[in-house]
Amino acid sequence: MTTTEERVPGAGAFPAGFVWGVATSAYQIEGAVDADGRGPSIWDVFSRVPGAVAAGESGDPACDHYRRWPEDVELLAGLGVGAYRLSVAWPRVFPDGGGRVERRGLDFYRRLIDGLRERDITPFVTLYHWDLPQALEDRGGWRVRDTAERFADYAATVHEALDGVPYWTTLNEPYCSSITGYAEGRHAPGAREGHGALASAHHLLVGHGLACARLRENARRGEQVGVTLNMSPGVPASPSAEDAAAARRMDLMVNRQFTEPLLGGAYPADMAEVYGEISDFSFRRDGDLKLISAPLDFLGVNYYYPIHAAAASYVQPDPALRSAYDIGVRTVMPDGPGTSGLGWRIEPRGLRDTLTGLAARFSGLPPVFVTENGYGDYGDLDDTGRIAYLREHLAATGAAIAEGVEVRGYFCWSLLDNFEWARGYAARFGLVHVDYATQARTPKASYHWYRDVIAGSSGGSA
Ligand code: FCB
Repeated sequence: MTTTEERVPGAGAFPAGFVWGVATSAYQIEGAVDADGRGPSIWDVFSRVPGAVAAGESGDPACDHYRRWPEDVELLAGLGVGAYRLSVAWPRVFPDGGGRVERRGLDFYRRLIDGLRERDITPFVTLYHWDLPQALEDRGGWRVRDTAERFADYAATVHEALDGVPYWTTLNEPYCSSITGYAEGRHAPGAREGHGALASAHHLLVGHGLACARLRENARRGEQVGVTLNMSPGVPASPSAEDAAAARRMDLMVNRQFTEPLLGGAYPADMAEVYGEISDFSFRRDGDLKLISAPLDFLGVNYYYPIHAAAASYVQPDPALRSAYDIGVRTVMPDGPGTSGLGWRIEPRGLRDTLTGLAARFSGLPPVFVTENGYGDYGDLDDTGRIAYLREHLAATGAAIAEGVEVRGYFCWSLLDNFEWARGYAARFGLVHVDYATQARTPKASYHWYRDVIAGSSGGSA
């Protein structure tokens, strides 16, 4: 058997007990959107808007995982992962967002979790991976505080119902849920707002805090509660002072807006200045930051690429027309060989810098899991580009560990090709190829490579 060091040169030894996993999310794989009383989510509705999703696709049928999950658990077992990161679909549990609980939805996750445990695979459960019940969006969505309260009720209900889950994550990537969904309009619910998007970001964090408190009130022995952020270092597109300032503004919007309140108990000092007239932050209430910054048992970091930022030559002068996205920054994707099949910049150094930067900035940083990292392309079973990407990013993770960051595990995105949000099914991130016409699953070269990395390491289940 080859060792991890041979498969991932430069990684150093991953510590004993290092958790090897893969990740998915409910809406991207489950399909079965009308099964067992599930209510509509914002993604079901958004997908029907002409032009919202490539080729007019939606999460129906995705990978039909709702029915084919036993086969997918076998694929996980064949990979040898110690952990599997999945998300629960809120609209399966509360079809109307709150009130009536749909037991059949909970039963699905119970069966899945039992199936994982029988295979010695530790479930890492995310409570919110972007599929808000449409009924709540109709009442204001994340713009309104009530959604945070409903989220806490939902979190408590799922937590009580699902035994055998040691790791609970409240939110996946609140940046995308708020800014991509409510400011850029590229994701559900497709809004293009300024103040509303910033209110969403805040209410997501409040929801996180409320949910954490509810989970902890009834925590079973050893249960851990955390949150997952997507982090992209802001890199100035040129040596100019203007671009350096633009990169810092981007860093605020993508990273610091979330890390500072969660880990530091305060919003960044430059927030009011950067957002200017976009928002008066009147949605903040006394006590919110205390709630948001309750200590985390772990932090999940999703990393794909850094953002190269340039000062925008034009800023919308009319505040009424401004979106939260208009902070005088233009993102640039430098050309060159270092891009994925989807054209995403490949810079493994950004992952290392993200991890070491967090440890340097926050003295009480909780243990970290890389909860997503992966490579998108348009489909090839002999996916050498994906293998190279994963190898380099695992080496970057190993380098951060060697520099003293407590990284406890790594989850590759994703087990299966799946519904890649606004890109639809054309963009593929899986270690396993999915033929959507037949639902046939075929492991790619990267599946075999990752299996060998895991087998050659001293890691195990969490
Ligand atoms: C992340 C999302 C995940 C997936 C990957 C490619 O931002 O959390 O669902 O779409 O990107």
